[in-house]
Amino acid sequence: MARINDNYLRLKSGYLFSEIARRVKEFQAAHPDAKLIRLGIGDATQPLPPAIVQALHAAVDEMARAETFRGYGPETGYEFLTELIAKHDYGARGVTIAPDEIFVSDGSKSDAANFQELFSPDAAVALTDPVYPVYLDSNVMAGRAGAPDGRGGYDRILYLPCTAENRFDPPLPDRPVDMVYLCFPNNPTGAVLGRPALKRWVDWARGAGAVLLYDAAYEGYIQDSDIPHSIYEVDGAREVAVEFRSYSKTAGFTGTRCAFTVVPKELTARASSGEAVALHGLWFRRQSTKFNGAPYVIQRAAAAMYTPEGQKQVRATIDYYMDNARLIREGLEAAGLTVYGGRNAPYIWVKTPAGLDSWAFFDKLLNEAHVVGTPGAGFGRSGEGYFRLTGFGNRASTEEAVARIKTRLKR
Ligand code: MLT
Repeated sequence: MARINDNYLRLKSGYLFSEIARRVKEFQAAHPDAKLIRLGIGDATQPLPPAIVQALHAAVDEMARAETFRGYGPETGYEFLTELIAKHDYGARGVTIAPDEIFVSDGSKSDAANFQELFSPDAAVALTDPVYPVYLDSNVMAGRAGAPDGRGGYDRILYLPCTAENRFDPPLPDRPVDMVYLCFPNNPTGAVLGRPALKRWVDWARGAGAVLLYDAAYEGYIQDSDIPHSIYEVDGAREVAVEFRSYSKTAGFTGTRCAFTVVPKELTARASSGEAVALHGLWFRRQSTKFNGAPYVIQRAAAAMYTPEGQKQVRATIDYYMDNARLIREGLEAAGLTVYGGRNAPYIWVKTPAGLDSWAFFDKLLNEAHVVGTPGAGFGRSGEGYFRLTGFGNRASTEEAVARIKTRLKR
């Protein structure tokens, strides 16, 4: 009989959001009349901005004519898009990133999950805790996480707790690690790191010879002008950091799928021979073998985000979601809950009421208010005692959810 990758048996039973979907489906089957409001997964609800839709239509028309039809594109993305990214996402912030350091893909989830393939199977990994589950699960699948530690984690992962006590600012690793995943603005806590904190990480990585896997999928939500949008705004980051960016939460591409990863040419890691090897070349080799590029029509749609109308429309959608986040934050605070995040991020991280753990609060809101959120414990053990809501709903449902939660908490 064929043998499986035993590492899969070490994964927690279900991917967090699939597990929530399963529980919600079960609830709905038992309560078909309940009007559920979903503020669990961070999925866009507002339509694609008109400038993007127009570009998408035009690109589809190009595909319908022999003279403008496109087959396989460059695996790493069309230049019309990578040049716009280099100019608008980086150049405009005083950061130099060359178009050929940008790898366009079908999503940050897959890039963040796949990038670990470039590291040794026994490389040591550090994760903030709570954490977006993809970073952990992809390393479990690769056999890098070790065995369950009996406390809901894995014995080869270094967990960096982020709680209200340290203002959700992760401590530096206290033992040698090869890779650290950082996500700011943070999913799930909604925390951000200022320039001095980011510099502390870059300086540490340079001294330790470690690589930072920096997920900036939510940078579009930053409101405070002194918070960096990119790790490369910190000097020296090009030698130690990869950055993941996404159109999902900015331009509403959660279903349309487009993202990019930046791998600067100076970024190296060590081969077992001791030789320093550029990760740029390895990622190019990996992508050109296992990926054939994001669709032409989707890249044309993404490019429309950088037009003046596209920028304005995307900004309006982000403002809309941030208004939702404010409504949730203020509403729950008025109901007596302690609330974090929601100021530079679409996520609101709520302390669960006394006596209720994360899943108990999830069940209470589902059963009594018919509101779906995400239990903090699903993101790791330091998420226990917290609960995540998102600003990605539509306005009416968000207002209704806040009103229902307030009523339930008063009883
Ligand atoms: C979340 O809710 O954490 C995100 O939607 C997950 C994702 O972006 O894959």
